[in-house]
Amino acid sequence: MNRRRQPQLPAPQLRQKLFRLARAAMKRAYAPCSHFRVGAAILLDDGRCFTGCNVENASYGLTICAERCAVFAAVAASPRKPEILAVAVVNHRGAPCSPCGACRQVLAEFGPRATVWYMGAKGLVQRSMQELLVDGFTLCPNETK
Ligand code: THU
Repeated sequence: MNRRRQPQLPAPQLRQKLFRLARAAMKRAYAPCSHFRVGAAILLDDGRCFTGCNVENASYGLTICAERCAVFAAVAASPRKPEILAVAVVNHRGAPCSPCGACRQVLAEFGPRATVWYMGAKGLVQRSMQELLVDGFTLCPNETK
């Protein structure tokens, strides 16, 4: 029997809360280069939520995406390794915007079983972390199964 924890979808109210938080964070984005404002909210297994926005820089490569901003805020506020259950990503244009490769790798580190919502070409998309990052690199291979 597989005794590992199965991914559990957060209740619809929690999803709504995550989107509300993500939209609030999006308004705080610092995006003078792209003018593309992104907000992200993550739900941890202890019930806490953290948010992030994209923060750009005149030296473009130093830009950080909203998703990683949220994950790093969670890590900085957690005595132990946080476990992400769910992620919501929004942008001010309602444009298709899936997490970039770097963010997928970082999200997978702390939420290998997470559910991720973001805007796709045909509306809201729900994906598992496994779908978003197939065969992602990990130092803890048993955690992802
Ligand atoms: N961006 C995010 O914050 N998250 C994503 O999922 C995709 C892109 C940001 C990075 C940059 O500041 C701007 O959007 C344009 O790429």
